[in-house]
Amino acid sequence: MSSKKLNSIMTDDKNYLFQNYGDRLPVCFVRGNTCFLYDQDGKKYIDFFSGIAVTSVGYGNRLLLRALHRQIDSLIHTSNWFYNREQNEAAKQLAEASFPGKTLFVNSGTEATEAAIKLARRYGLNQDQDRYQIVSFTNSFHGRTFGGMSATAQKKIHDGFGPLVPGFIYLPYNDATAFAKEVKKNRNICAIIIELIQGEGGIVIADHAFVKEVFRICSKNNILTIVDEVQTGIGRTGTLFAYQHYGIVPDIITLAKGLGGGIPVGAIHAKNFLPEFFPKGVHGSTFGGNHLACAAVAAVLKQVQNKSFLDNIKKVSAYFLERLNEIKQDVAFIKEVRGMGLHIGIELSIPGAPMVSKALARGLVINCTAEKVIRIMPPLTISLNTAQAGMKILETILMEERKSSDNT
Ligand SMILES: Cc1ncc(COP(=O)(O)O)c(C=O)c1O
Repeated sequence: MSSKKLNSIMTDDKNYLFQNYGDRLPVCFVRGNTCFLYDQDGKKYIDFFSGIAVTSVGYGNRLLLRALHRQIDSLIHTSNWFYNREQNEAAKQLAEASFPGKTLFVNSGTEATEAAIKLARRYGLNQDQDRYQIVSFTNSFHGRTFGGMSATAQKKIHDGFGPLVPGFIYLPYNDATAFAKEVKKNRNICAIIIELIQGEGGIVIADHAFVKEVFRICSKNNILTIVDEVQTGIGRTGTLFAYQHYGIVPDIITLAKGLGGGIPVGAIHAKNFLPEFFPKGVHGSTFGGNHLACAAVAAVLKQVQNKSFLDNIKKVSAYFLERLNEIKQDVAFIKEVRGMGLHIGIELSIPGAPMVSKALARGLVINCTAEKVIRIMPPLTISLNTAQAGMKILETILMEERKSSDNT
């Protein structure tokens, strides 16, 4: 697959960049259009990955580009010392799309986690000097800064960094009894943080009964509920936010990824009783919610809130789930197909990474997480035709793999 051009790009990567991402997949994308990417040599790919669930409205989206061009031409950044119309507009749209409340803009998912846990601690400590503990759930992922990493209940993310931020309690996911037991004996919990579909953890879906019970206990015990919608938000699961599948309304949602359609931006959106716990000077960010980022947010939200936009997600999702379940009948190493909207995981009984490389060679971008889960999360604007074309490639690879595992 390596071309001369690619070899030189790979050499520069080795020479000039930290190698914390290891060997990247052997491709350098230079252009994108709708759900297609084009590499350094002009080869076209179907994208089932959307830059880790980021390019929500696809590549070259006319409305997003128009908003960005207009904003770049007028003003990119001024800082939070000044009023900002684009922030106002983006926050207004977020409140309309989710629940009445206020928004604080940051720059990434992990910063949204930081803001949410800092807000929860201010809230808890305001009631009692020991009320600062936060429950998170096994196999979660909430980010890589110290707060985000400490909230993340996965040892492999913690390893090698010394003491974590204290005050996190890790409880089993989908186990309401364990949560009830903890709350009964521990009066110092100020909040929970939860992904309703664990993304990095392998597209693991929270049970409705578990979520309902946890939220009931939280409400009864004045424990804040933080739903991490960094990956699931902005239409990814077929509703604007994943919590809307569960008949609950969290106190705080964290957002990033799809929020800016590719422009780095994150946010927390919180119910109206919470912003007072962040009075002047206790939290902030230089870039957070700058004019350009918020112009992107407004342009994305305007589109995602369209009924036809969400209908497309549901239609393509139904196709993926049906087709993948059909394929599963013929492929013994597919253990389970699960997901909601365009956030779908294919759990295998064998490592998924080799299939990612094979797909790439055939012009399909997919991803593997948790070692054995192939993730399908294309731009939300993907057409049924493109989804079918990509599935054809994926099916070929799965069948080839089946053949070779039959032969061994
Ligand atoms: C659920 C969830 N929360 C938080 C994060 C951290 O986001 P970021 O990488 O933008 O810091 C991620 C990233 O994958 C995520 O999936």
